[in-house]
Amino acid sequence: MKIAFYVFSGTGNTLRVCKAMADEMEKSGNETEIYRMDRKTEYSPCGCIVIGYPVHAFNTPLPVLKFLRSLPRGEKTPAYIIQTSGEPMGFNRAACISPMKILMKKGFDVRGTFSYVMPYNIIFRHSDAMAARMWNVVRMRVHSDSQVIASLGKHFWKTGAVEKAVSFILRIEHPATSLIGRGFKAGSQCTGCGKCAARCPEGNIVMRGGRPHFGSECCLCMGCAFSCPSDAVRTSILNAWRVNGKYDFSAECAGDEDIGRYCRSSYLSYFHRYEDRNKSKV
Ligand SMILES: Cc1cc2nc3c(=O)[nH]c(=O)nc-3n(C[C@H](O)[C@H](O)[C@H](O)COP(=O)(O)O)c2cc1C
Repeated sequence: MKIAFYVFSGTGNTLRVCKAMADEMEKSGNETEIYRMDRKTEYSPCGCIVIGYPVHAFNTPLPVLKFLRSLPRGEKTPAYIIQTSGEPMGFNRAACISPMKILMKKGFDVRGTFSYVMPYNIIFRHSDAMAARMWNVVRMRVHSDSQVIASLGKHFWKTGAVEKAVSFILRIEHPATSLIGRGFKAGSQCTGCGKCAARCPEGNIVMRGGRPHFGSECCLCMGCAFSCPSDAVRTSILNAWRVNGKYDFSAECAGDEDIGRYCRSSYLSYFHRYEDRNKSKV
């Protein structure tokens, strides 16, 4: 079966998870294709689709919803959703409601959703040790999760009323993205390398006179700020929250004692849920 991944990924986390999934599927004899979602992405029919994206304000980023709305009607193709988020809070679960609704309205056979914790690309920078532990858990999970998809199994979670309500209220993020994005600019450290423009999935950054110019189509993916080699992108009211530079996923994993107070119990229960299961298999 050919499984096509359509992945929106501002700073590479979701793409990394989807690639790991696709590798596992290939090992079990499936054909996979990964399409990085941007304004020009077009859908081509296949045996199964997987939609990957990061959670933004407990919701789905707008470009993903736009892509899903552009899909043809009447397809009965099995569909799965893969979300990544910076913390394992239950509110993130509600992010899959809108994409699932659109897919179902279009006639796709939505069969499951998967959620992985990956390091933050906004708010604050996780330690590399924490990123490595998150990645370690992804690696423990992808084998069985990819088997569920490749066998067209079902994998759903329940979303509570409070989670739905909070996610609904935070949809305010959608109209706010372009307003906030209009305030993005390059600081004096900018060397004019153009990496931000090349990275922008919305084509919202154009280089003029060796400097990036930010338009009004920003979706707050943070790819520009994250990938700037001189940390020159200033992200408007989110500037204090910007995260710059790749994580080292090969670092030594953080121990329980290294996990700070922020969402500590959620991280611990997320890690142990999979690590303990994995230990008991050995
Ligand atoms: C604008 C924005 C909003 C975010 N909101 C949330 C959130 O509500 N919950 C969460 O756990 N992570 C949130 N994150 C963090 C990302 O979901 C997380 O770092 C993700 O793995 C990034 O994936 P990517 O590299 O594929 O873009 C947010 C990130 C951005 C840029």
